[in-house]
Amino acid sequence: MDFRTPEVDRLAAEVIPEEFFELSTQDARDVFFADTRMLDGKQLAHNRYRTSPRSLIDHLAEQLELAGTETLLDVGCGNGFVLEHLRPHLADGRIIGLDIAPGVLQAAEARLAGVATPCEWVEGSADDLSAFGDDSFDRVIATYMMHYVPDIDRCLAEVRRVLRPGGRFVLTTDRPDSMVEMYQTHFAVLREMDAPARLFKATPKARISLINGGEYLNPHFTQVELRTWQDQLRFADAEAFMAFYSAHNYCCAASAPGDLGENFFAELRARARARVQAVIDRDGHFALTKFTGSFICS
Ligand SMILES: C[S@@+](CC[C@H](N)C(=O)[O-])C[C@H]1O[C@@H](n2cnc3c(N)ncnc32)[C@H](O)[C@@H]1O
Repeated sequence: MDFRTPEVDRLAAEVIPEEFFELSTQDARDVFFADTRMLDGKQLAHNRYRTSPRSLIDHLAEQLELAGTETLLDVGCGNGFVLEHLRPHLADGRIIGLDIAPGVLQAAEARLAGVATPCEWVEGSADDLSAFGDDSFDRVIATYMMHYVPDIDRCLAEVRRVLRPGGRFVLTTDRPDSMVEMYQTHFAVLREMDAPARLFKATPKARISLINGGEYLNPHFTQVELRTWQDQLRFADAEAFMAFYSAHNYCCAASAPGDLGENFFAELRARARARVQAVIDRDGHFALTKFTGSFICS
């Protein structure tokens, strides 16, 4: 389905700043992914409010072309959501999940406990895969995580090293203008509130996105193919949207509530909610257009 319209393109050009937020590894490990709440909320929203009948997992399973016997490494595996759903495609294979945040890694382990596919869980940073030998994996995946990695170039060299010849690496991420309707609301409210200029930055995903990902990947892989798809999340309930937005806005605002004060965030949320409710009253739902995809590398 094509959700791209001239209006969405116009918004993207108008709304998304060139400069983007950079998140520290420490924040990833100790704040955003200290527990699974943020990830759980985002995954639930994507599944519950999507319009495309094809889920992220459907796309990944297609791109990975699994026979069922492969050894697969998931770098930045988070709470194991992706691995749980890919696991039936690896019934006679092996799964290794790596993540920098012990909180989510433990959740992944608990989530896959008792499955017959052997699973191993490794705490570490994706730019240091020294725990693994050369040519160890048939497949490596990195899903919505590469923008967090301190040394992306080293990470990709490491992925190439641990991937056996003929193996496949699938890196999945977004375009920086994915969900532009949310950023439009967010920045409009920040402007209303006369917020500090440092808050007007694009998502940290812009660091390595569908737009510039090839520049990082081409030096490391002989073949790099980009496959994109779209979706639209439609929220008919402002509270449901707010739960989703709040998991991002901390990120978008890239600032602990302590910096600006909890009152600032409370007002930001109240104003965003009112805007979204007005759209729902008018259109029946608030839509977020997703531009996402994977680089398939070998
Ligand atoms: C948005 S989540 C994605 C989780 C999972 N791949 C998914 O799609 O559900 C990003 C994950 O990357 C992890 N992460 C952040 N920096 C990392 C690093 N340097 N090395 C490995 N994992 C990292 C986080 O802890 C988090 O679990």
